[in-house]
Amino acid sequence: MEETGPNFYDNETVFATYMRHRQGTDTPNETLEKPVILELVYPIANKRILDLGCGDAAIGREFLNHGAASYVGVEGSHKMAATAIQTLNGTSGQVILQTIEDWAYPSTAFDLVLARLSLHYIADLLPVFANVFRTLTPGGKFVFSD
Ligand SMILES: C[S@@+](CC[C@H](N)C(=O)[O-])C[C@H]1O[C@@H](n2cnc3c(N)ncnc32)[C@H](O)[C@@H]1O
Repeated sequence: MEETGPNFYDNETVFATYMRHRQGTDTPNETLEKPVILELVYPIANKRILDLGCGDAAIGREFLNHGAASYVGVEGSHKMAATAIQTLNGTSGQVILQTIEDWAYPSTAFDLVLARLSLHYIADLLPVFANVFRTLTPGGKFVFSD
């Protein structure tokens, strides 16, 4: 199996190393990237949120705790999706095991689409951006970091 994109994270060693790093509190993700993302997405009360390449979905849990109407994470790695399901246990959050490229995006379904550190895995972004546009409500926001 090709070890790119989501498959990369299904490798036992990569997954363990990544999760150890990602859950640290003094990483560039936590100290630089996350504050900017939060500034761009808040207020999130009553928003329907789609997270592309959601990883462990920790931010989904946070959003739901802060009043988001719903949270759907699309995740292509089996290991990550399983972790995301655990993270969202007891919330209304949903995880879909599917790739960002192949998921059937519903029309006009989300107020916010988020993609943190996941789009660099996509070879052809144009169809993804078209799907994001279609799945957003008028005036909805697409926020991504890479
Ligand atoms: C660097 S991690 C970031 C995870 C999460 N967004 C975060 O900020 O913690 C990238 C994530 O994107 C997922 N991913 C990469 N390519 C993907 C694709 N084509 N479809 C779905 N998920 C993908 C990976 O499995 C991984 O969980």
